[in-house]
Amino acid sequence: MVQIPDEFVEEVRRRNDIVDVVSDYVQLRRSGRSFVGLCPFHNERTPSFSVSPERQLYHCFGCGAGGTVIRFVMDVEGLSFGETVAHLAERAGLALPEALRVQQVESPRRQSHDQMLTAHELATKLYSYILMNTAVGVQALTYLETRGVSRQTIHEFRLGFAPVDGTTMVRFLSRRGYGESFLVQSGIAVDVGGRVLDRFRDRIIIPIADAQGRVISFAGRTLKADVKPKYLNSPETAVFHKGHILFNFHQARRHIRKSHRATLFEGYMDVMSAWQAGVKDAVASMGTAFSTEHAMLLKRDGARVVVAYDGDEAGARAARRAIEIANEVNLAVAVVSFPDGQDPDDYVKSHGEQALRRRLSNELLSEVQFLLELERREANLQTTVGRTDFLRRALEIIGRRATPVEQETRLQDLATELHVSLEALKSELRSVSRHEASRVRKSERAFLPMDQSWKGLPPAAEVAGERLLLAMLTDDRSFQYLCHQGLDELATAEQTALLALIYNFRAEHPMASAESFLDMLEDPLLVGLAVRVLSAEIPASWEIPALDDYMRAIQLHRLEAIHARMLRDSILAQTDGRLEEVSTLRETIAKLQQEIAQLKTSSGKGKAGIGAKEAGLK
Ligand code: GTP
Ligand code: MN
Repeated sequence: MVQIPDEFVEEVRRRNDIVDVVSDYVQLRRSGRSFVGLCPFHNERTPSFSVSPERQLYHCFGCGAGGTVIRFVMDVEGLSFGETVAHLAERAGLALPEALRVQQVESPRRQSHDQMLTAHELATKLYSYILMNTAVGVQALTYLETRGVSRQTIHEFRLGFAPVDGTTMVRFLSRRGYGESFLVQSGIAVDVGGRVLDRFRDRIIIPIADAQGRVISFAGRTLKADVKPKYLNSPETAVFHKGHILFNFHQARRHIRKSHRATLFEGYMDVMSAWQAGVKDAVASMGTAFSTEHAMLLKRDGARVVVAYDGDEAGARAARRAIEIANEVNLAVAVVSFPDGQDPDDYVKSHGEQALRRRLSNELLSEVQFLLELERREANLQTTVGRTDFLRRALEIIGRRATPVEQETRLQDLATELHVSLEALKSELRSVSRHEASRVRKSERAFLPMDQSWKGLPPAAEVAGERLLLAMLTDDRSFQYLCHQGLDELATAEQTALLALIYNFRAEHPMASAESFLDMLEDPLLVGLAVRVLSAEIPASWEIPALDDYMRAIQLHRLEAIHARMLRDSILAQTDGRLEEVSTLRETIAKLQQEIAQLKTSSGKGKAGIGAKEAGLK
């Protein structure tokens, strides 16, 4: 991380008007107090990208991108924070401070990173040359041909071949000045009892690139059916962290941004086959599980994800995990399944490219449909017990995950399938899900175009949380007060995460602005939240009673959530006949209800209730 003085960053921000800078990239027109245009971060026909000259912030209501002029340039140009500050300083005619110049030149770590990248680039070129132009590569080239990989695909994925001798690459890179221990560190070579040898021998080489298309590691596939492992991968290195890298993301990205969709495969070969079949949003998570970082990468580009894993047991299990990960970060998800244990690559071979494209667009299952299908497969519907069991699981899935509209459809299907009345199912579902968590979440996650989500007014506690965040970010006295009150939780997980980051930030940069805070945020969900918070009306002064009211609203929300959970637990305990548990739960519930009632009357004593006050502000 480049350490640039806060004051310099503030100066750079002041000297670069956001409307000016954005206008270099986006055609803006005035609309009331702000400017609007077509968002450069996602494909749209009607403008949802807005820039506020007053606040010096931009925000896209379509894809959620937002921030200050610095974030804008970082994202639109793909530059690092330091590079962006340098670029904008130059644009405004400011001289770079010493720290930035020194940092920009080369830290030793940066130097070793660069060397690793260059070594991988050279290796990629040599592997590719061996595959395409030498006798040693012929067998591998034939193998790829028989698997239907076209010359163009070989070229686009920069495939190569590592010869069997085990020293070609080490010799090649040593001659170019790379030390043996460096080659081991970079994963290109291995130390075998003191002898440094090529990691990849007699394997087809699949280069793995980062989001900018720089090769950072390799996967090697054996040509032989009996050699284990089938795929050999580079280890984690300073430049390669597999939890953050999606195979083919650099090529798929512009398609993903345009279509708001990414197709996630299990295997490299699946991605290449799909790409060759015209599925240009194809990525894979390299053998390891799909991670939250992967999900965030896709979400950041405004994508929904279609999980297209292998049509076998393992594929279904992995898809179930991918759904959970996607849910964690509110990434919309759908699933495509493949018949008879086939993987997508097999499917292209047996059904053709057009069939794959068609399947990937016309045969999407919602996450609910997919999970129900899995339950159905595992259930024994021949027996009454089996059917009841299946029904209970099915209702849980529907209650927890389906939007109201989807609930209706799924219940109808179930009613027909199991010969029960729709009415009975509906009332069962109500008892399962009456106290399930917020509906807003579910509809946000649903597989809908981005701009159809985020409808409806947020609940009072959420508004209160946003006001508290705004107070903390823009008013020092409020910050001190809330800090003193020990405020450590807000209405949603995102709000609470942002709160924690504000505390950290203030501790390290006591004088820096809210804008600096915004620029430091990495997580796009939190960026979106912070921009929304900072775009709201800032009162002339913050009154303590108002802050207290907000905190009470949060507390009330927290207690009500606990209350709802306990009610649900007690209903479950009752149906299962755990009577002792029921009676203890009832006691706690009664106490909670009292507390809630008290909080309600004390907040009523203030001025207006939160809801009313905020409604007046809007
Ligand atoms: P092909 O058999 O060449 O069609 O490969 P595939 O892409 O269909 O692979 P498969 O479905 O068997 O595995 C899916 C993914 O898991 C691969 O692309 C690899 O990322 C990973 N994988 C498979 N086998 C191995 C292995 O032996 N070692 C490691 N480290 N990863 C593997
Ligand atoms: Mn395969």
